[in-house]
Amino acid sequence: MNESTANASRILAIETSCDETAAAVVDNGTTILSNIVASQTELHAEFGGIFPELASRQHIEMIYPVVERAMREAFIGLDDLDCIAVTRGPGLVGSLLVGVNMAKGLALARNRPLLGINHIEGHINSLWLSEDPAEIEFPLVTLVVSGGHTELYLMLDHGRYQHLGGTMDDAAGEAFDKVGRLLGLPYPGGPAIDAASENGNPHAFRFPRAAMQQEHGYNFSFSGLKTAVLRQTKQFQTGHMPVHDIAASFQAAVVDALVTKTARAAADYGAKAVHLAGGVSANRALRKAMKDALDVPVRVPPPELCTDNAAMIAAAAHWHFISGRRDSLNMDVIPSLQLV
Ligand code: KG4
Ligand code: ZN
Repeated sequence: MNESTANASRILAIETSCDETAAAVVDNGTTILSNIVASQTELHAEFGGIFPELASRQHIEMIYPVVERAMREAFIGLDDLDCIAVTRGPGLVGSLLVGVNMAKGLALARNRPLLGINHIEGHINSLWLSEDPAEIEFPLVTLVVSGGHTELYLMLDHGRYQHLGGTMDDAAGEAFDKVGRLLGLPYPGGPAIDAASENGNPHAFRFPRAAMQQEHGYNFSFSGLKTAVLRQTKQFQTGHMPVHDIAASFQAAVVDALVTKTARAAADYGAKAVHLAGGVSANRALRKAMKDALDVPVRVPPPELCTDNAAMIAAAAHWHFISGRRDSLNMDVIPSLQLV
């Protein structure tokens, strides 16, 4: 077993909440020994979105080889682990079940403690995998922007979070994916719109910046924007759509909303830094606009730590583990699990 002092941990984490089968071994919530992700993006591409039943079946096929590889690459055995952590929610019920059952099996077979972790708490804790922990100061504002989530959190200390706002309808990544489809771009729409926008004029169309008003607090809304883009695309005959200009104008509206609310939250709460997480944080216009708008540092972990992975689940689990929390083997998945 790891040199178990009160503050040390060696954790195997498993993440199967959506369409990535992932496993990682992490020491002390900061040092990645292995981080394996088997993505299903190609499998779902022909449906233009995630097909839940297909996702669970694929997780069943991939979970053993992915966990086995994470252990092999970390050069350790199951008996060297202090704990097995797994994403318990939020996510797709069938997908979550595969990871949770695998984790329970390993915990039971090797008599290791089990911890069920919130997926969003994982995204928030991804910062500790990419920054020098000594440099991280509280309070932090974290924007989690992915295909399933658009959430703004204040982190006051380890394990102390305040939910500031979130989307009232579509997630930002979901809006990118739906608009990508409207524009005839390949799935997933986010990277395709990011690329198409490079040759487009972000001022060509003035799309609505919904929920920007003060009374909406730190909440977001993207469904009106999506409808406005749909209406705009109908103005053009097939083959004559200015795809690049629409993509750039749509992206500018999303970025504007995300940056305005995040900057407001950072100022209101005196954040020492802003952290971006989730697949949409790969967006180049978002990163640039966020850095331009803020006086405090904007931290964006490398892409493999922004998108779904299991190392971030281990990073979050570390703080629960050293605080003495242990979950029962009867633990169940919670598809709509809330962080706070
Ligand atoms: O975090 P993630 O890999 O998976 C989850 O949804 O949990 O995020 C995927 C989302 C997709 O909606 C994808 O279109 C979006 O992130 N995305 C981007 C970019 N890269 C990925 N959105 C905008 N710009 C990008 N460069
Ligand atoms: Zn995620």
